[in-house]
Amino acid sequence: MKGKFITLEGPEGSGKTTVSKELVKILNESGYKVLLTREPGGVDIAEQIRNVILDKKNTKMDARTEALLYAARRQHLVEKVLPALKEGYIVLCDRFVDSSLAYQGVARNLGIDEVYNMNLFAINDVMPDKTLFFDIDYKKGLERIKVNQRETNRLDLEKSDFHKNVYEGYLTICKQYSDRIVKINADQKVEDVVQDALKEIKKILWSKII
Ligand code: TMP
Repeated sequence: MKGKFITLEGPEGSGKTTVSKELVKILNESGYKVLLTREPGGVDIAEQIRNVILDKKNTKMDARTEALLYAARRQHLVEKVLPALKEGYIVLCDRFVDSSLAYQGVARNLGIDEVYNMNLFAINDVMPDKTLFFDIDYKKGLERIKVNQRETNRLDLEKSDFHKNVYEGYLTICKQYSDRIVKINADQKVEDVVQDALKEIKKILWSKII
């Protein structure tokens, strides 16, 4: 695989979407080919699945919904991520398997290892070269969503306990995969978060242009 697969993770309102757009601009200016994509979604069928999963009327995350989520992951990986990596792109993916470990594994209580095992068919040994965890207290993240009036989805509307568990789940995963996941302080100005993220990305890039 010639490219680099970098995933961005964090609780709601952690700013990964905003920061990822800035990262694309800077990396592009430095001559890198970058593909910015997201999960659930990224390709047509997976975006349709995203709409079903995040629909506010769909109140339960049952086994069927979970299966759809992982099927969407497989499709996105095969159709978009792997071809881009083969062509030497830096692929920045807003959420990937760690979201499942934190949201389904911990917050929904399905178990980190169990969810990882369920994902094996979807990821087929493809794991990120680096994962940036956007670390912000879950309450501050939820506050940011309110202030920015970002459109809420079904999961945003979960009780505060759920978001607390997501956050704690992420902290557990950070420890479990400490060689791959790096924490970025997301509770600072966007420019500073971008710079911290870039520092980490630079460590795994081939040249030192940026
Ligand atoms: P976002 O893209 O706006 O962050 O919203 C995606 C939502 O989907 C977010 O609440 C996390 C949730 N999600 C899971 O529960 N499991 C997953 O595996 C992924 C990728 C996302």
